[in-house]
Amino acid sequence: MDRIRLVGGHELNGEIPISGAKNAALPLMIASLLTQEPLVLVNVPRLADVKQLERILENHGVDIAVHGRRRGDADMGGQRITFTASDIVDTTAPYELVSTMRASFWVIGPLLAREGTARVSLPGGCAIGTRPVDFYLEGLRALGAEIDIDEGYVVARAPGGRLKGATVTFPKVSVGATHVVMMAATLAQGTTIIENAAREPEVGNLAECLVAMGAKISGIGTDRLVIEGVETLGGAIHEVLPDRIETGTYAFAAAMTGGDVLLRGARPELLQAALDVLARTGVEVRTETDGVRIVRNGSGIDPVDIETEPFPGFPTDLQAQFMALMARSTGVSSIRETIFENRFMHVAELARFGARISVDGQTARVTGVPELKGAQVMATDLRASVSLVIAGLAARGETVVNRIYHLDRGFERLEDKLSRCGAQIERIAG
Ligand code: EPZ
Repeated sequence: MDRIRLVGGHELNGEIPISGAKNAALPLMIASLLTQEPLVLVNVPRLADVKQLERILENHGVDIAVHGRRRGDADMGGQRITFTASDIVDTTAPYELVSTMRASFWVIGPLLAREGTARVSLPGGCAIGTRPVDFYLEGLRALGAEIDIDEGYVVARAPGGRLKGATVTFPKVSVGATHVVMMAATLAQGTTIIENAAREPEVGNLAECLVAMGAKISGIGTDRLVIEGVETLGGAIHEVLPDRIETGTYAFAAAMTGGDVLLRGARPELLQAALDVLARTGVEVRTETDGVRIVRNGSGIDPVDIETEPFPGFPTDLQAQFMALMARSTGVSSIRETIFENRFMHVAELARFGARISVDGQTARVTGVPELKGAQVMATDLRASVSLVIAGLAARGETVVNRIYHLDRGFERLEDKLSRCGAQIERIAG
């Protein structure tokens, strides 16, 4: 299994290009199931999760054509990929494919809306919490679907072959359930209202793509989406948003090592809460025409308390990385996780660098230390893994991060991007 070896203590200086967002690309790719016509996505990141979803879509009959340059070229630009679902050849999403990536469960929305039937494996357990699918099923039932659970599969049928518009009120904000009910409602008969919809930018990015495909959606960007169903959707060309979690991760990394880094292509409004918190730590955060600049020259890192929240609050997907930063602060900070019940798996690994963190329920208390020391570490999920990389960048001596397949799921060319800014970091194969 590949590992990452890095030697910490080097400032980051230069530019880091921000890739297309994984969590925007995945639902956009799934939306291609809604139409016979080609959906062209621009700025798709080169990631293991994108590859895996391509396999899942191909199983349903989607033809996939990748244009432009592939990984390994000097060009850091994203991929342009055409997805054409002329015929849906299979409405089953099998366990072997769905169990490796939770987002693949989302195919249930388009399959049910277009074909009137879907059989999708329940996603497996997950390192960050139980992550049930009750909101999805209740939402689809509200649209008239009949749903059974059979041998680990969700079997859904739309009586008469078509879903019917309805009001769906989510008890808690859910990004995935909003994606699924919104996609399903585009082809339903009548109007659907989604109350307490997720406002995450990736939901807006999907909604805009659906509109380009001919869907009628209003309230985009708010917590109340109104979707008037249409008979069919057509093709479109749509751009994937820049990745706000990648942006925040590198912003925290630069804050931690010190230096001056331009995050090229980043859009600050997609992560304003996190950038505001970063500015409160004493780091300079500057919006420029072509991105966001992060500067720290020798000053200490002030402690700041945070709580994760749905958008526009501080994102749970940056909580682990912020904890790494706070491990080097000049005081005590508290970090409360409110989205997932088990998202502190990185605490024990950060402790291996000498971080002082105690956990009480959903709150971690971090006492900053003047120096972290390199260590052998291993992580359990994508964002936790990258928190260990940024801790290692600021630690004295050598760090080896094991199980980096997690990183490859969500960070494009991580070693490349960091080493171009002066980090001493390499991948060790085997
Ligand atoms: C999306 O997951 C993201 N994944 C996650 O990023 C992100 O952490 C999360 O949203 C929150 O922002 C993708 O976009 C692919 P939710 P999702 O449904 O949609 C509970 C990463 O690292 N819930 O918004 O699965 C759930 O348990 C990943 O890129 C129910 O109770 O998250 C959680 O507590 C990790 N019942 C809360 O809602 C349901 O039916 C929010 O989860 C659905 C969700």
